[in-house]
Order: sequence, then C-alpha cells, then structure tokens
Amino acid sequence: MNKFDVTTIPTELIEQIRNAEHLVVLTGAGVSAESGIPTFRDAMTGLWENYRAEELASAGGFRKSPPLVWGWYEWRRNMVLQAKPNPAHEALAKLATKVPRFTLVTQNVDNLHERAGSIDVLHLHGSLHSPRCFACARPYVFDSTIPPEINEEKSIEPPRCSHCGGKIRPGVVWFGELLPEKIFQQAEGAAGKCDVMLVIGTSGLVFPAANIPSIAIHNKAITVQINPTSTDFDSSVTYNLIGKAGEILPAMMELL
Ligand code: APR
Repeated sequence: MNKFDVTTIPTELIEQIRNAEHLVVLTGAGVSAESGIPTFRDAMTGLWENYRAEELASAGGFRKSPPLVWGWYEWRRNMVLQAKPNPAHEALAKLATKVPRFTLVTQNVDNLHERAGSIDVLHLHGSLHSPRCFACARPYVFDSTIPPEINEEKSIEPPRCSHCGGKIRPGVVWFGELLPEKIFQQAEGAAGKCDVMLVIGTSGLVFPAANIPSIAIHNKAITVQINPTSTDFDSSVTYNLIGKAGEILPAMMELL
C-alpha cells in the first residue's frame, strides 16, 4: 500500500470542490479510527468477547438480558466520551463553511462530528448519547456526571423511564431495525442532488447506508473515496484516495 502523499490529491479535484454547489459527505467508523474508537466488531473484547455483535445489538438481545446489553453500550459510551475528535472530524467541520450547501451523513454513533463543530449531522444509525424508553420511546436524559461503573466491562441495570417505568435502551439502530425514515430520506435526497460526494472511512458493507454513494454515482456527481483499504467503491468513484482520513482531509483543506 502506498503511503499517502499530499501530491496525490489531484488539483482538478480541489477545483471541483471549490466550485461545488452542494457537497455531501458520508462517514463510517474509519473517520473515528484515529480518535482511538474501535469499530463495532473490534469493540467485542474482554467480557464482550463471548458474545456475537448481533446478540448485543438487537432488541432480542436486550429482551434476553437488558443489563448485559446496557452494560456494553455504557462501556462504549464511556470510551467515546474519553476520546477526542481528530483532524478528520475537524477538517469536515471547516469544509462545511467553504461550500454553499453541505450535508454530513454519518453511520457513527459517537457524536465526534458534533464535538468537532459540525452541525445538522444526519445520524443514520442513531447515537450512543440519545437513549429512549424501550416501552414508550420517550427520550431519556443522562446525568451530566458519568457514573464510574461505566468504565468497567460489566452488566449494568438500565435506568427506568420516569413516565412509564419501562427500561431505557440505547438510542442506536439495532440489527433488524429500520433506519430513522426521515433522516434516511434526507440523506438520499441530498445524495441525489449533490455535485460532489466524499465517502470516508466506510467499508460499504452495511445496507441501506451503503446505497448512498451509489445514488450520487448514478446521478453523475463527482465522488471521492478516502480509505486506507480497498472497498467495493474503489472502481466506481471518480477519485479513490488511499490513506487515512486524518491525513488526507487536513491536507485537502490546506489546498482549498
Ligand atoms: N481513515 C479512513 N478510513 C479508515 C481509517 C482511517 N484512518 N481506518 C480504517 N478505515 C476504514 C476501513 O478500511 C474500513 O473500510 O474504515 C472502514 C470501516 O469499516 P466498518 O468497520 O465496516 O465501518 P462502517 O462502514 O462504518 O460500518 C457501518 O456497521 O458496524 C456496523 O452499525 C455499525 O455504523 C456501523 C455500520
């Protein structure tokens, strides 16, 4: 694999971004990798090693053992609260100010884009920070102080809904659940209208999120992949920039 070198960012791409009317970005776990956030499957360590991701990230899993599932998500929430946005998140927050229209769509549940200053982020898979009641769906607000127990890999009894007494569940999209309809429609709509799309740090294996780049490709937008490894998008994007998001995006911003 060639190491990324700033001269590999084509000058015509910089020009195309400068002239873009509507730029859409789709991010995946790779954009948070340099903040030290393990990808979903890499988070199955220690206590969680004994379970399949689908067991912990599903309504069935939650019904079977609410404390096990809640404990796993609390452990992950703690990890992202301790992490910091990296230069890729920061570059994307700046990029939003350089084009007339900007839409940031993410599959990540860590809120690092917001912490880097991005606004109106479309969260296709929800957020670790917006839990709700499993029974009545009312939102639940976390205490601002982080309980020390969430540092540990252990089962934790979920809090109860103050309205109906139901168990609180994580605010993420689980296996077998539909994506939030309105948000997905907004993302599809933006992909169908944009003139430039950046696809950053996603394997493109999880659907329907992985359809978003195809919409832009079909619509003849200029598409750019940023990823150190190869994906199914390699041959269909206009530019395939091989390397880390935290190196390529800041370099791109320097050139803009
Ligand atoms: N910069 C850019 N890309 C990176 C970097 C980096 N520094 N490090 C890793 N990547 C790439 C990997 O090469 C891989 O292609 O990020 C991608 C991560 O792929 P996945 O782990 O499959 O993440 P994602 O595509 O976001 O998965 C989608 O699946 O795990 C579920 O719900 C979860 O939202 C997630 C969804």
